[in-house]
Amino acid sequence: MSKNLRKNLQIAIDGPAGAGKSTVARMVAHELGMFYLDTGAMYRVISYKVLKNGILPEDELAVTRIAQETEITFDHRDRDVVLCDGEIVTSQIRSPEVNRTVSIVAAYAGVRERLVKIQRVEAAKGNVVMDGRDIGTFVLPEADIKIFLTASTEERAARRLQEIQATGINMTYQQVLDDIENRDSMDSQRQHSPLRPAEDAIIIDTTTLAVDEVAEKIVSLISSS
Ligand code: CDP
Repeated sequence: MSKNLRKNLQIAIDGPAGAGKSTVARMVAHELGMFYLDTGAMYRVISYKVLKNGILPEDELAVTRIAQETEITFDHRDRDVVLCDGEIVTSQIRSPEVNRTVSIVAAYAGVRERLVKIQRVEAAKGNVVMDGRDIGTFVLPEADIKIFLTASTEERAARRLQEIQATGINMTYQQVLDDIENRDSMDSQRQHSPLRPAEDAIIIDTTTLAVDEVAEKIVSLISSS
């Protein structure tokens, strides 16, 4: 049953790779009858298309052109379904190749400009939970509640390894840990909208918390706001 909410509530959930943002954001949105937008999936779609078209992720001009012409859609009737120019790419955008290149692509100003524009249009429709890296700092600076989820790198790698293995992809713990550390470092050090908590963000360390405990904490913060 959805709780009674003010119209146009905007909730920002940011944090490093594997902190549990999307699982928690989805649970919070479901519990409160809000709309969920996975902004990481949008950067992943661009990265997927860049690779599919044989473009080098380092070619900023070509990558930016791809970002400008790609149609990204979410099919909300079916949980998690993401489309790139009408093609379902839900599992393809989680591949190890996309993991390796997405932070290169996400660092380009032109890519961010296009995707942020779409994200703000979606947020303006009201009652949205959005997760990413720059939601509280840049995309929705006026968000009603800003959460920054963290967890130890080892815990994040262990959680991500479990998710990856569940999809049948074979990766070692060390490979997953390296991927997470590389992306965190690129995401935190880039020039445009680097990963960092907004000044008014509530930081939640999820290392020893279960996802439903984190989601409950956020729901009660929202309900009492
Ligand atoms: O789920 P995970 O934390 O591994 O990553 P994600 O949320 O799917 O985001 C994938 C990548 O997209 C990140 O490593 C960032 O490089 C980029 N990203 C971003 O730059 N800004 C956002 N708002 C969301 C994602």
